[in-house]
Amino acid sequence: MDFAVLGLGDSSYAKFNFVAKKLHRRLLQLGGSALLPVCLGDDQHELGPDAAVDPWLRDLWGKVLGLCPPPPGLAEIPPGVPLPSKFSLRFLHEVPSAGSEGQQVAHPDSREPPSELHPFLAPMISNQRVTGPSHFQDVRLIEFDISGSAISFAAGDVVLIQPSNSAAHVQQFCQALGLDPDQLFTLQPREPDALLPTRLPQPCSVRHLVSQYLDITSVPRRSFFELLACLSPHELEQEKLLEFSSAQGQEELFEYCNRPRRTIVEVLCDFPHTAAAIPPDYLLDLIPAIRPRAFSIASSMLAHPSRLQILVAVVQFQTRLKEPRRGLCSSWLASLDPGQGPVRVPLWVRPGSLAFPEMPDVPVIMVGPGTGVAPFRAAIQERVAQDRTRNVLFFGCRWRDQDFYWKAEWQELEKRGCLTLVPAFSREQEQKVYVQHRLRERGKLVWELLDRQGAHFYLAGNAKSMPADVSEALVSIFQEEGGLCSSDATAYLARLQRTRRFQTETWA
Ligand code: 2AM
Repeated sequence: MDFAVLGLGDSSYAKFNFVAKKLHRRLLQLGGSALLPVCLGDDQHELGPDAAVDPWLRDLWGKVLGLCPPPPGLAEIPPGVPLPSKFSLRFLHEVPSAGSEGQQVAHPDSREPPSELHPFLAPMISNQRVTGPSHFQDVRLIEFDISGSAISFAAGDVVLIQPSNSAAHVQQFCQALGLDPDQLFTLQPREPDALLPTRLPQPCSVRHLVSQYLDITSVPRRSFFELLACLSPHELEQEKLLEFSSAQGQEELFEYCNRPRRTIVEVLCDFPHTAAAIPPDYLLDLIPAIRPRAFSIASSMLAHPSRLQILVAVVQFQTRLKEPRRGLCSSWLASLDPGQGPVRVPLWVRPGSLAFPEMPDVPVIMVGPGTGVAPFRAAIQERVAQDRTRNVLFFGCRWRDQDFYWKAEWQELEKRGCLTLVPAFSREQEQKVYVQHRLRERGKLVWELLDRQGAHFYLAGNAKSMPADVSEALVSIFQEEGGLCSSDATAYLARLQRTRRFQTETWA
């Protein structure tokens, strides 16, 4: 078998492109013949994964065309000619009877647990800022009512939330494309077996499509510029778009788009003649669908049976563009105010990567700086409700009076003997103090719990360097407290990982 393996990964994770490397090796072992070296796409690369993928794909097509030349009469599609759109979009000129434009497809009373196809429209009960007024970050504790939803979850599970675009962005987009938000349309696939997007009602309004489906505030990919160049009727704009699509234009495209995190709607406003000429049929080819976002569930059903809570850091940062960049889902959630009238949010749950011990007497050590503490709030609530009191939590934040989430709750549990809390306040002294420093200070306790008492160890939070720093602290604890040599200490940690006594849930 001839084969070629393309991996898409992120080198900030310890097992960078693990699957691609392993698959490549295994296919070779089995006697396959590699057309090309394995490609390791890296999200951390300054120019994004395309930096590795582009040259690899070019080589791949060269090899494939050499092995299987196109049959006579067929040729490659020349550049500049758009492929047919996947769907055709037909505007309805007669308004169908009222109510036929379905809202989000949902089954609030179904016995089936909600899913991506049928999310539960959960009433939002509260949306409360939990960071102090002078803190740099807006972090929200958000509570949903899930009664009657057939949702059930355990500590460590994750809720998926399907966000929408803001009304202002929808309007900006419709204006740039000359679309009437109230216009209704139906979608037909061009290929008989192509699947229609299941989340869209039929008929659907342009507003619904743009606000709930098209990810117009994502940073466009290169394929967006390629297709846009084919569709552009304007010479100057087309020239620029072609440049952005070319291999030589990638650095310029990166500077224009990826570095400042420019969004699709902003790009369209920069190319007004092209935007106004986009055939609506191509909208779903040009613009990806809004993906649901996953949040660790921060409450336990044993403590709050019909409630689900999450802790959300509202993502906002500045680039060289005037407008601050805002995370779609977190900003949308933060903008919802149940005090102003009923608010419903489409959601469903799925298992996360953390599973807590079933045996009642196993102690747990949890390390969760920042919003990484969310799944541990669920675990601690759940374990305390089951009388499992051997819980150790290492929590890190900047200031005890600004971003110390659930401070009073932890203190109360400590008083009841259900929790050992070890906080690390990073900015209350000259030198940064992080959870890994506190872990080292409590090395004796950590070793005793892990080695003598079979504790499970959990780590959650931002994936930058914290997970590696915590692992390093553990390895040095195993050396200092357990008397292991460096390689035995590393092997000890690997064994904890293999036997699922060391589990992590990290996000970028
Ligand atoms: P800092 O922002 O003061 O650097 C939650 O975000 C807490 O995690 C903050 O106190 C933050 O500190 C801290 N933090 C930042 N980088 C970290 C790292 N590599 N390891 C552990 N904690 C870190």
